[in-house]
Amino acid sequence: MIDKKLEKHWENVYSNKKENEVSWYQKYPDKSIELIKSLNINLNSSIIDIGAGESRLVDSLLEMGYKNIDVLDISRTAIEKAKKRLGDKSLLVNWIVSDVNNFIPKKKYDLWHDRAAFHFLKKNNQIKNYISLTNNSITTNGKLILATFSSNGPMKCSGLDVTRYSKESLIKEFKNHFTLSNSFITSHLTPFNTFQEFLFISFKKKS
Ligand SMILES: C[S@@+](CC[C@H](N)C(=O)[O-])C[C@H]1O[C@@H](n2cnc3c(N)ncnc32)[C@H](O)[C@@H]1O
Repeated sequence: MIDKKLEKHWENVYSNKKENEVSWYQKYPDKSIELIKSLNINLNSSIIDIGAGESRLVDSLLEMGYKNIDVLDISRTAIEKAKKRLGDKSLLVNWIVSDVNNFIPKKKYDLWHDRAAFHFLKKNNQIKNYISLTNNSITTNGKLILATFSSNGPMKCSGLDVTRYSKESLIKEFKNHFTLSNSFITSHLTPFNTFQEFLFISFKKKS
């Protein structure tokens, strides 16, 4: 079941704004790609991008030769726009319209990527549910990449409150099932010439 209010918010965003008219727009998701390359995962690995919106990460993954990619978002419009951009290549991707809070994966993932979706979860039960979802849906030794607003990042994203994280607070949340591989802070230049501080972190699922 999709949270209708949340769905409406995101449908409104993607129906009314062009790709480069949202603060999170990136022509090329360099930091995500940098991290993914450092993980050396093989091309048959199953990958999911959570709350992908219109992100071009999927384009890069296809170009790199990954064959088993799922893209999930609560907004059908965002998914349709991403499909349209990719044209025939969109047939190589498994597209999922779902609220991550109610997502029931059909398979396990070797890589779970989430840039700026997890940080919208504010309620403790939603955060715990997401953590248990990653625990149940990522393969042993699989990888989890999260990018959230950092402790110095904005309090809101797309007009919605977010939870900001430090490296320590994210490790604390995920430490029962994941060990830290890498983390860094980076400044994202928005299309409006402002900066947003992000924390990127990659974890490895414990065996
Ligand atoms: C700030 S945007 C980031 C988009 C993309 N990850 C990127 O880096 O360009 C947040 C995205 O998360 C999606 N989203 C927000 N809440 C969600 C939820 N509960 N379930 C699934 N997707 C969600 C939104 O539709 C939106 O596309």
